[in-house]
Amino acid sequence: MAPLSQEPVSLLLLPALVLGSTTASLISAYKKTFETLFPRLVQPNTQAISRLDVAIALSPSYPPSPNIPRSALFIPIQRLLAETYSLICAVAAETKVDLDFPGGLDVRIFLLETRVDELPRGLSGTQVLSGPVVDIQTFALAARPYTTIYSVEGEVGEGLLRSLITAWQSKKSRSAPPVQRLPSGPAIVQPSASQTAVHEDGPVTSHKSVAVGGTFDHLHIGHKLLLTATVLAAEPSNPSSPTEAPRLVTVGITGDALLVNKKYGSVVEPWSVRQQRTAEFIESILVFHPDVSSITKTEHIDQPGPNGKIVRVTYGADISINYTEISDPFGPTITDEGISALVISGETRAGGNAVNDKRKEKGWKELEIFEVDVLDASVAMDKDEGDGRKKQESFQGKISSTDIRRRLLETTRASAAG
Ligand SMILES: *[C@@H]1O[C@H](CO)[C@@H](O)[C@H](O)[C@H]1NC(C)=O
Repeated sequence: MAPLSQEPVSLLLLPALVLGSTTASLISAYKKTFETLFPRLVQPNTQAISRLDVAIALSPSYPPSPNIPRSALFIPIQRLLAETYSLICAVAAETKVDLDFPGGLDVRIFLLETRVDELPRGLSGTQVLSGPVVDIQTFALAARPYTTIYSVEGEVGEGLLRSLITAWQSKKSRSAPPVQRLPSGPAIVQPSASQTAVHEDGPVTSHKSVAVGGTFDHLHIGHKLLLTATVLAAEPSNPSSPTEAPRLVTVGITGDALLVNKKYGSVVEPWSVRQQRTAEFIESILVFHPDVSSITKTEHIDQPGPNGKIVRVTYGADISINYTEISDPFGPTITDEGISALVISGETRAGGNAVNDKRKEKGWKELEIFEVDVLDASVAMDKDEGDGRKKQESFQGKISSTDIRRRLLETTRASAAG
């Protein structure tokens, strides 16, 4: 089993493109940066997994995040996440860097709100539970112990870096981590007309209770996208009405009993390990507090009956996350009427419909379904070109728990053989 804690942690600051930019612009802007950075960070042939936090600053064309409901932001933000994660996977395949595997990288993306002047009064610097979108002041005050901050060359990158360092040093006696500059490609800013980014037609509902489900074995980029989108869909409390009900995110994690027949089943992680890794990931993109443990409460509930085993993690007064062991594809979505939204990946659309059919039978309100894109290798590689097919396989392998298990078994056998 790979170690649960990873060292060291670096930060990459990326300026965002204009809302609705084409995939080609995104590749042009970020690819070179990733190609330069990834091989530098890894320690191949060791057990170490280096973590890289990627903070993408929202450009002025995005609606300022706390001013509109998260469900309205969902479409453009999930697209930005899906495309960037796809590009990360493609670059890792090309540069032969492992992802979420010993000797490789663990990359996590969140969004930085830099337009602090446009936020409602009192929010800047105080949004410690607003991830995966966090204002730059709050982020800097959290002062995560990064070993290095990587920033991109050029005017926009320098401006962003300066704002972060200034915020970081606003508390006397605190120096920011060392900085290194990386090359970046030209950002072709040509918004594509076909991508209407913000969902403006019709009313949008804010959701306080959102669910997601999965196996979450050997957490990889596909899981990370899904979990980030789930946290995104849960509306943070409005600080001006502190009596609002706290948020609940329900993460259904398949019980061990359903996984015994999986391929390479001997290296499926036990439920408690899958739960802990999932929780550790969610915390890293949700909570931006200088002393996370001081606001965290963890309860272990183990009751008989379906969905009775829960690890419930509560942060401050605003949000709880139920990590629930599930023994069927529905989990709490058909036992808890209060859940109002479900986040799924494009591959599991049928599952979402099945949940809503059951809820209709019970006379319950249907869930709003939020879909995340399937990660797509063609974002950055041509599968018909040269060793394209091999790279494509390598891409797929990075987002497949089965492939990760197979490789782990092979590595153990190889080392046992001497
Ligand atoms: C979340 O966990 C709490 C504590 O065990 C439980 O009372 C509640 O019903 C759970 N909610 C859902 C939606 O599973």
